[in-house]
Parts: sequence; C-alpha cells; structure tokens
Amino acid sequence: MGRKKSEMAVPGFTLGAFILLLLVSSVANYPSGKVTKSCHGMIPEHGRTPQSDPPCYISVSQTTFRPGEQIKVTLSGPPFKGFLLEARDENLTGPPIGSFTLIDSQVSQLLTCEDIQGSAVSHTSPSNKREIKVYWNAPSSAPNHIKFLATVVEKYNIYWVMIPGPIISQPNVLPFTTPKATIAPMPTLPPVSQLTKSFNASDCGNKKFCIRSPLNCDPEKELACVFLSFTRDAKSVMVEMSGPSKGYLSFAFSHDQWMGDDDAYVCILEDQTVHIQPSHLTGRSHPVVDSRDPLEDMAWRLADGVMQCSFRRNITFPGVKNRFDLNASYYIFLADGAADHGRIHKHSQQPLITYDKYNVTGYPENIGGSHSLFLLKVHGALMFVAWMTTVSVGVLIARFFKPVWLKPLFGDAAWFQVHRMLMLTTSALTFIAFLLPFIYRGGWNWHAGYHPYLGCIVMILAVLQLLSAAFRPPLHDPRRQMFKWTHWSMGTAARIIAVATMFLGMDLPGLNLPGPWKTYTMIGFVAWHVGTEIVLEVHTYRLSRKDEILDDDRIQILQSFTAAEAEGYAFKKAVLAIYVCGNLTFLTMFLSAINHL
Ligand SMILES: *[C@@H]1O[C@H](CO)[C@@H](O)[C@H](O)[C@H]1NC(C)=O
Ligand SMILES: *[C@@H]1O[C@H](CO)[C@@H](O)[C@H](O)[C@H]1NC(C)=O
Ligand SMILES: *[C@@H]1O[C@H](CO)[C@@H](O)[C@H](O)[C@H]1NC(C)=O
Ligand SMILES: *[C@@H]1O[C@H](CO)[C@@H](O)[C@H](O)[C@H]1NC(C)=O
Ligand SMILES: *[C@@H]1O[C@H](CO)[C@@H](O)[C@H](O)[C@H]1NC(C)=O
Repeated sequence: MGRKKSEMAVPGFTLGAFILLLLVSSVANYPSGKVTKSCHGMIPEHGRTPQSDPPCYISVSQTTFRPGEQIKVTLSGPPFKGFLLEARDENLTGPPIGSFTLIDSQVSQLLTCEDIQGSAVSHTSPSNKREIKVYWNAPSSAPNHIKFLATVVEKYNIYWVMIPGPIISQPNVLPFTTPKATIAPMPTLPPVSQLTKSFNASDCGNKKFCIRSPLNCDPEKELACVFLSFTRDAKSVMVEMSGPSKGYLSFAFSHDQWMGDDDAYVCILEDQTVHIQPSHLTGRSHPVVDSRDPLEDMAWRLADGVMQCSFRRNITFPGVKNRFDLNASYYIFLADGAADHGRIHKHSQQPLITYDKYNVTGYPENIGGSHSLFLLKVHGALMFVAWMTTVSVGVLIARFFKPVWLKPLFGDAAWFQVHRMLMLTTSALTFIAFLLPFIYRGGWNWHAGYHPYLGCIVMILAVLQLLSAAFRPPLHDPRRQMFKWTHWSMGTAARIIAVATMFLGMDLPGLNLPGPWKTYTMIGFVAWHVGTEIVLEVHTYRLSRKDEILDDDRIQILQSFTAAEAEGYAFKKAVLAIYVCGNLTFLTMFLSAINHL
C-alpha cells in the first residue's frame, strides 16, 4: 500500500513546489536599484511625468569641506521605494563628483556612474524606507561648490527628479550664486485623446491588416476579442489594439519567434486612464521604455473591462533607435498581463505569436496566431498519452491480469504481450516527446524550473526499464526475484516523477493550460487511477482469502475454485474496461485543451 500513499502525496508535493517557484520568480522580478542607465539625467525609465514639490529633503553634516574629507549626507522623507543620490558641481551639468561610502549596505548600494566608482548611491530593494545615511568623500580635485541631488521614487509612477539638496563649499571661496536654469527640462507628454466608440472589424482584410484571437472575432461585439489592426496610408500606419485587460495590452514586432530585440508597444491602465508606451525588449527581461515622440494621434477607451488604444506612427523612422521599419516582414507578438502603478508584470500566458512573418503595410490580411508553439504542444500531447494512458494500463495489466490472460499470444502469455507492447509504446512516445523541447529551444531551457530536470530523470528511468526488461532473467533463475523488484520500483518511481513533471509542465508558459482546471483535472486523474488500483488490490486479496478457505475445507474443491475464479476474472475485466474509459476521458480532456491553445 506504500506505493499508493506516495502517489497520493504527489499533488501536495507538486503544489508546494509550484508555490515555491512562484515566490522565487516574483522576488527575482523586483527592481534591484542597479540604475546606472539613469545616472546622467537622474530620470527613472518609467515613462511618466515626474511630480513637482518633492516631500523629501537632503541634509548634510557640515556646509564646508576640504579635499579628502568625509561629509555625512542624509536623505529623508515619507516612505519611498527607490532613490538615486549624487553630488554634482554647482552647474549640475558635469559628471557626478567624488565618491560615497555606505553606512547601511542593507538598504543602499554604490553605483559606478560615468566611470567613477561609487559616485552615486541607490536602493537595493523596493522596500519602503524613510531615511538613508551615507558619507560623501571629497576628491582631491573638487570644484569650489558641490550640490547634492536626489531622485526619489515613491511608487513606480510617482517620483521626483533631481530634488535639489544643500550646497557645500570649500573654505575661503566666493559665496555660491544661484546659476540660472539649473533643473533639467521636464519631459512633457504629447496629448492623448479619448475614443468615443469601439474599434470594429468591418474593414479587416479590405483596408486593415488584422490579427485576431479568436480568429475573425469582432471587438465591437465580443468582449473577449483580442484585436490588433494596421491601416496604412502614404507615409504612416494607424494601429488599433483592443482586448479584455485590467493591466496592460501589448504587441511587438520581432525578427524571430523568441522574445528579445523587439519593437514593442504597451498600453497600460493606470488610474482609469490608458498610457501608450513604445518600448523595446532586450532579452526576456522587463521592456525598456522609449520616448513617445514617434507616436501621433494617440487615443484610448475603457469600457466593460475592455481596453482599447490607437496611435499613428510613420512607416520608417530614419535615425530613430528601436522603432523598426514597417516596410518589412515580422513575427507579431500579442501579450497581456497585470500592472500596478503603471509597472507591468510578466504576461500571464504565453503571448499570441503569428505563425509566420507578415508585412503589415503590405496586402491587408486577416490572420490569427497561436499561444503555444507547435513543438511544445506535440511534446505535451505525447507525454500525456504516454504517462497518463499507455503506462497506466500497462502497469494494471502486469499487476492484476497475469492469471486472467495466461493463454499464449504469438508465443508469449497474452498479458505479457500486451504489457510489453504498451510499455514499448510509452518509451517510444517519451523519447520522441523528450527531443522536441530541445529542438524548439536549440538547447537547455534555463527558465523552466524543475520541469526539465525531472523530465530527464523520467527519460533515464524509461531507458533503464527497457534495458532491464531486455535482460530479464529466465523464470526460475534465482535473480528473477531481484529483477521483479527492481523492475517494479523503477517503474513506480518513473510514474510518480512523471506525474510531478506533468504538474510542473502544465504551468509553464510554453504550454499554459487554463487556470485551476488543469490542476483539478490532473488530481482527478490521479484519484481515478489510485482508486482503481485499490479496488483491484482489495479484490485480489479477497479472492486469495476465498481460495484459502476453500482449500482448508476441501469441499468440492475444483468446481468452486474455478467458479470463484471465473467470477473474479469477470469482475477484473469489468473494472479494467471502466478504468480505460475513464482514463481515455481524462486524456481526451487534456488533448483537446492542448489543441485549443
Ligand atoms: C558654472 O557655470 C559658470 C557660468 O557658465 C562658469 O563660470 C563656471 O566655471 C561653471 N562652474 C563649473 C564648476 O563648471
Ligand atoms: C468602423 O470603424 C471605422 C473607423 O475605423 C468607421 O469609419 C466605421 O464607420 C466603423 N464602422 C461601423 C460599422 O461602425
Ligand atoms: C513622419 O513623417 C513625416 C513626413 O515624412 C514627418 O514630417 C514627421 O515629422 C514624421 N513624424 C515623426 C513622429 O517622426
Ligand atoms: C524600408 O524603408 C527604408 C527607408 O526608406 C529603406 O532603407 C529600406 O530599404 C526599406 N526596406 C524594404 C524592405 O523595402
Ligand atoms: C511590404 O509592403 C510594402 C507596401 O506594399 C512594400 O513596399 C514592401 O516592399 C513590402 N516589404 C516586403 C518585405 O515585402
């Protein structure tokens, strides 16, 4: 019975592993304060207008300094998440001056800005802080006056840029006179208007190039319609994007089917308005915000949980970085996800990716895409067939149907032929399925958590099972008992690990099966299988008891024995038939879910 307990324990263990993975990955996404890109302008790359009237201030331990001296600098205010502190010359235009020494390295870290080590200080995590203390070390060649400056981020979309701090001076120099126009010009945002009615699909394939999911849906009539259209005129393209989202909607042009090096546009919901933000992706990390200047005629609309945004951009941008020329063909990604305070989170499901590269300024087409990549779908489907159906039936037959199907079939006992056929099928399917993610990825996937590791263990066990079966000792060999035990325990281990691997794999973005449905269905399958094994186990036990009693009484021994046996076999066959029906039902549910991705 130990085997059953451990199989039942698998969902609990896997759920635990899930939660652990989720925690680890969400912590890893938090801003780390490594903001060296913002050193010069001291503007966070958040794409929002900075606030005025800073609530934070900087104070210093003394107002005069000599080269080599240490001055204590304090930044304080209401709770804030991030900051950047620098010392500059009186005109604020040059590079940061001097270096800092940390007092509390838990909350602050040194940055190397403009090649000067430790010339700026930033946060280490987005935790709330009220006060930061550091030392500033005056360099030997310092200008006469030094001004401290800080950028403070209260939330992702609320921040103050270059908050002026006190000015400190070398002794015996002329007093500091306020230079004119010190503060860097604030970025201003182009006007954005509100749409009065929904986008519609009436011109799709006629004037508009449309990408839709579900295929050919209408954003005007269906709330669940994810819609992206491009309408070109002589020099520019009008873009419309629509879909259900409470966080953000985005699309990107890509040279390949992987994320990275892409030209992306994000519409983010923030305080009941929608911000339209061009960005670019470098690798699989958070998109980097770009200037909004290339976009014109920006407009948006929010109704019934559907977010819509539109803008116009030129087909080509000579000399503008990160905006692709739209006279060429690209793969197009469509993604959505959650956002808080204007900071977007990783997409909740695998983005919709077009099957091919398309020229959105060319002939207006009507296309769809897939959330899952074909090879990964086949991988999932084959693994489900192998580890849900063929292996389970094969094991039941070896364990409970030996006496039932003893008659030879092509030279061997029938049960053995069926068992061998099912297990060979399992191994073959596993092997083919195992190769597919490697072909798709072109190597190991470091972003898939424990799934690929467990998958490798299952693959190795499957090969070992085949080898051990091939070198099975003859029936009366003393090593036969040893073989039976090894064969059983390796097989059981492989099945348990396979179930755990399937639990983890179902949640990976490459094959993102829907919501809690997949977990419950998988638990349902495990319960169905374990239940069947228990029923057959109890039945076998009772049958053997009956045999013993008959044996003791020695009454009509032969006749009763066969009658009881025949009845028992009929029961077993009925259980197997019902089990196979249930098993195929679960398999069909998973296969059709994969097919619909
Ligand atoms: C700041 O600007 C003034 C006027 O442009 C100039 O005279 C002065 O030398 C500058 N100071 C530094 C430290 O560059
Ligand atoms: C569809 O939208 C276009 C603008 O993109 C508009 O001119 C047209 O009237 C709309 N059609 C319908 C049927 O609402
Ligand atoms: C788009 O192109 C037109 C003319 O080709 C130009 O005048 C305009 O400034 C461009 N717009 C942007 C945002 O670059
Ligand atoms: C797209 O336009 C740019 C700028 O006009 C040009 O350099 C490039 O060759 C064009 N590409 C294609 C594929 O037509
Ligand atoms: C895309 O379409 C435009 C407009 O029809 C055309 O000028 C351009 O050459 C096309 N690009 C490709 C790569 O086919």
